[in-house]
Order: sequence, then structure tokens, then C-alpha cells
Amino acid sequence: MYTQALNTLDPQAAAEDSVLEARFQARIDAEEKIEPNDWMPAAYRRTLVRQISQHAHSEIIGMQPEGNWITRAPSLRRKAALLAKVQDEGGHGMYLYAAAETLGVSREELVEQLVSGKAKYSSIFNYPTLNWADIGAIGWLVDGAAIMNQIPLCRCSYGPYARAMIRVCKEESFHQRQGYELMLTLCRGTPEQKAMAQDALNRWWWPSLMMFGPSDTESVHSGQTMAWKIKRFSNDELRQKFIDATVPQGHFLGLTFPDPDLAFDEATGHWQHGEIDWSEFARVVAGDGPCNRQRLAAKRKAEADGAWVREAALAHADKRRQRQAAAWRVAAE
Ligand SMILES: [Fe+2]
Ligand SMILES: [Fe+2]
Repeated sequence: MYTQALNTLDPQAAAEDSVLEARFQARIDAEEKIEPNDWMPAAYRRTLVRQISQHAHSEIIGMQPEGNWITRAPSLRRKAALLAKVQDEGGHGMYLYAAAETLGVSREELVEQLVSGKAKYSSIFNYPTLNWADIGAIGWLVDGAAIMNQIPLCRCSYGPYARAMIRVCKEESFHQRQGYELMLTLCRGTPEQKAMAQDALNRWWWPSLMMFGPSDTESVHSGQTMAWKIKRFSNDELRQKFIDATVPQGHFLGLTFPDPDLAFDEATGHWQHGEIDWSEFARVVAGDGPCNRQRLAAKRKAEADGAWVREAALAHADKRRQRQAAAWRVAAE
């Protein structure tokens, strides 16, 4: 990455870079995948490290609001599904850290950025889960929004990220289905259960819409990441797709959305929505959401509590390597 900075002082090297850059863009335009050992512009690498690591951190922190309810699931069936889902999210985090590592950054460095509070993760996980219906609302809405974001990432220009997304999306669709089925069960239950489902929708709807990020007019990275085919759709386009898919599902449940301006536009075929409170989004992203401190504190504690496991695993791997090497020496003699 240093070479490119130095090249600005060297006209010949700069000319070589622009040839490489043109060739790189031509490959992207031809829908070829970029692989770890291929030449890539420093900014492309930086953008991907930021995006993939933020994605990984979101999966890992995202285990907390739901993990909180595993011991309180109302039946064995619900507990098994929730346990599997939370475990999947941990797996997604691991895939994604591995994908980020192919870009030359270490997992230790990324985890350090998370626990030190330097790295960002999805703002949605800084909201609390107050009752069991929240588990349904998260699966239905949060995983539903994640799918909208992640399906186009299966075609991302960076090979390792695109391939990780294919498997992740299959699991996300199970998460969405279990959440919706939970909501359906509550909505067909007692009036109290239906009221719980409505309350959960009321609290999770707006934060779910914020998951797609700021409006296109405000988003600084959009243009370049689209040209690099990291992103395929703008934030507003993805948000609209999500709203169009989700509103009829909510109506099927017999629930109402906490947006008085929500209306179907016959002319465009889209659901129009009211103004999103971007000041709330900015506050939560900046660290002042309802649970930011709690989430980071829990992650720090887990890191510290697990330190001995990592050390033991490394020591064990080292011992095995040494034994293997000794066995090979004996065999060679
Ligand atoms: Fe996930
Ligand atoms: Fe998920």
C-alpha cells in the first residue's frame, strides 16, 4: 500500500499505476472476480477491509440481543431454532473475518479495533430486546433487511467476499423465516400476544429502515463503490425494496406500521414512507444508542474471559507442530 503513496513522487511509477488501474477497472466492467493476489488500487482494498470488517463485527455483536433470550425461549422448539440462529451469526462473523484477512489485515487487529470502540458495526444492534416478540421482529425485519443488502453482495467484484455471501444468504433466509413464523404464531394467539407483536414492530420498524444507511444524497462512498461493483444498488433503492416486500407481510399478520405517511403509490407501484429520523441514526452510530456501552462491555468481557482458550489452542497447535516435525526428522534419518 505504501508504494502507491510514494508513486505520486515518481512520474513513471504513477503512469504504471494508471495502466494497472485501467486494466483493473476493465476486469471489473467485464464482471471478472478480483482475487487476493491480484493487483488492486489501495483505496479498493481499504474500502473492502472497512466494509467486510464492519460486516463481521455486526454479525458478532448481533449475537448479543438475541443470545439474551436463549435461556428464556418458551419451548424446546423455539430454543433450538434460536440457538442455531445465534450460532449461525457467529459463523458469519468468522467467514467474514477470514475474507478480510485475505486483504492483508489480521483478525487480531480487527478485533482490537472493535473492542477499543474504533470500529463501527450496524447501529441496529444497539437497541434492546425487551420481550420475546422482539426475537420474532428481529428475524423478520433485521434479517430481512440483511438479506436485501447481502443478496447483491453475492455478485460483489471481490471473490472471497462474494463467495462468503452465498452461504451466508442461505442461512439468513432461514433466520427471516423463523422470525416471521414466530410473529405469525403470536398474531394468531391471545390478544396479549398480538399486542406484544405489535409493540415489537413499533420499536423495530424505524431502526430497521436505518440499517440501509443514509439517503443517497448524503452517502459519501456510494459512487465509487458502485463503479467498483462492490455495491450494486444504492441505499435508497435497497430500502425501498425492503419496504415493498415487508409491508404486505405485516398486513398479512394483521399489524399496523408506526408510520402515518405509509401509503401505496399506484403510479409507481411502491410503498411511500414518512421521514426517517436521521438524527437518531447519527446519535446511535456515534456511540450514544440505548445499548452501545453494554454491547461493547459484553464483547470486551468475552474477549478477556476467552483469552486462556486462545492461548491454550495456540500452545496445543504449537506442540503438535513440534511433534510432527520431530516425527518427520526420525522418519528421514
Ligand atoms: Fe448473519
Ligand atoms: Fe441472520
